[in-house]
Amino acid sequence: MAARLRGPAPARDYAGGGPAAAGRPVPDDHPVRPSGPPTPSTHPAPRRPAPQEDAISTDKAQSWVYCEEFLAEDDVLLRARERASHLGCTPVQPGAGAALRVLAAAAQARAVVEVGTGAGVASLYLLRGMPSDGVLTTIDIELEHQRAAKEAFAEEGVRTTRTRTISGRASDVLPRLTDGGYDMVVVDADVEGTPGYVEQAVRLLRRGGVLVVDDALWHDRVADPARRDEATTTMRDVGRQVRADDRLVPALLPTGEGLLVAVRR
Ligand SMILES: C[S@@+](CC[C@H](N)C(=O)[O-])C[C@H]1O[C@@H](n2cnc3c(N)ncnc32)[C@H](O)[C@@H]1O
Repeated sequence: MAARLRGPAPARDYAGGGPAAAGRPVPDDHPVRPSGPPTPSTHPAPRRPAPQEDAISTDKAQSWVYCEEFLAEDDVLLRARERASHLGCTPVQPGAGAALRVLAAAAQARAVVEVGTGAGVASLYLLRGMPSDGVLTTIDIELEHQRAAKEAFAEEGVRTTRTRTISGRASDVLPRLTDGGYDMVVVDADVEGTPGYVEQAVRLLRRGGVLVVDDALWHDRVADPARRDEATTTMRDVGRQVRADDRLVPALLPTGEGLLVAVRR
């Protein structure tokens, strides 16, 4: 899996604002709404830029960094990040982690499945958002990654009954989990397996349960129709898959590498 940005202050050029901003063609199914005249209002108000103007503002980049740094990470998270870095598995960025925590809290998620434990950074965020009796079932193909995650859970003081680490291929493990038995499913493993994990996740979620797919913007390539490499195309297709699924209420959040979220109807 290609490297992702790490740490709270990603140093890169975030300006761009998608295909329209870059003057590139927007595909027919591009989800950005066309800009039009502002809606008439009875109250005079300062003019709000149309959505696409917003997107091309250079202030957008600054706002993005501000959001990622909005909540500082503590030592337990920072040490988990260090372990992840040694193992070469890239954790979610701080803004995406905060979003996971907030979603787990909002859903009162007592039963969560995480596909791709890594060194446990996202797991910590999820556990912090879940009620104290919630159980995180986390799956990873690499035992060494799960060992690192367990170190992080121990440092955090998480009771061992709150985590169920399953070592194995997600495509083998997910079909064994119970239909409608989970409040939240988070997918952050191999790109090629992601469409299948999403299909499994829809089966696993209860009504009102939350699906999250990390890497939905895949290194800022998904929004650029000129990028047609396999990983980018797969993640773009996952966006379409979720958007077209009548069982889901979707949104794409531009935090971290892009969080595709959806609620199971
Ligand atoms: C990007 S890392 C997950 C990072 C984690 N979500 C975090 O934020 O700390 C992806 C993980 O998925 C695991 N993985 C890759 N392919 C897998 C598969 N087929 N089944 C299960 N786990 C897999 C890798 O071993 C790696 O630990």
